[in-house]
Amino acid sequence: MTGSSDWVPAGIDVNRPSAARVYDYFLGGAHNFAVDRALAQQIAAMTPNIGETMRSNRVFLRRAVRYLVEHGVRQFLDIGSGIPTAGNVHEIALAAAPDAAVVYVDIDPVAVEHSRAILSGVDRAGVICADVRDVDRVLGEAGRLGLLDFSRPVAVLLAGVLHFVPDSDEPAATVAALREAMAPGSYLLVSHATADGQPSEVVEAQRLSGRTATEIVLRTREQIAVYFEGFSLVDPGLVFIPLWRPDPVDPADEHPEQVGAYAGVGRKD
Ligand SMILES: C[S@@+](CC[C@H](N)C(=O)[O-])C[C@H]1O[C@@H](n2cnc3c(N)ncnc32)[C@H](O)[C@@H]1O
Repeated sequence: MTGSSDWVPAGIDVNRPSAARVYDYFLGGAHNFAVDRALAQQIAAMTPNIGETMRSNRVFLRRAVRYLVEHGVRQFLDIGSGIPTAGNVHEIALAAAPDAAVVYVDIDPVAVEHSRAILSGVDRAGVICADVRDVDRVLGEAGRLGLLDFSRPVAVLLAGVLHFVPDSDEPAATVAALREAMAPGSYLLVSHATADGQPSEVVEAQRLSGRTATEIVLRTREQIAVYFEGFSLVDPGLVFIPLWRPDPVDPADEHPEQVGAYAGVGRKD
């Protein structure tokens, strides 16, 4: 794909890699530029399992959405939703519960435009362009779509996004503000990159991510667990991604730490 394609919104800097488009490339998508692919290949050379990490994250997200639907959740606010790929949250949720509603939120205009395109004709899902750090705006604009009722339980999905928020922007305060707006019985989902159990090349790859609009902050399990204050973690807790309720038919993962990311789901009582 090049910068002249018709899916490229006006004003995009095609010379600066974006986190959403690098992720799209790793997932085998077509919505990325040469600059994104070059960065992705550099990161992959240092962390050969990075593509597997991202796929593992998507598979976790789908497992968790099915779990949430089974536990009665019908409303999803997916923040940092990314460029749509196969098995999006609304596809999984609506297949399991046709009365479900999904609002996607992303800071990246390419992700938002492409989401808007695939959602045309889907009346139970919508998308807004907003920054997770601006919780009032996220909740206000998401509410105005008329799809979500925050007086009823909602699942807030923060999959692979909080590691783009630096400590100086107080991600825990962002999550706490979201929690305040969530009715009892709501759920929080987080997946987050970590250096726990990782070789030093991972830290070098993290340095490369600084070339995108947002650098990745690797956090420890203890630091990530803070986001679940005010929530009760559901089994099996905050674990390396492949260990979160793996499909029984999947072979056991001998080295789950190699994905370099934790995942958890908590319920607001
Ligand atoms: C690694 S992708 C994750 C996509 C999807 N949630 C998943 O888990 O498959 C991270 C997404 O977060 C978005 N993002 C990064 N910083 C953000 C912010 N401050 N507010 C909203 N979205 C953000 C990026 O544009 C990107 O699309």
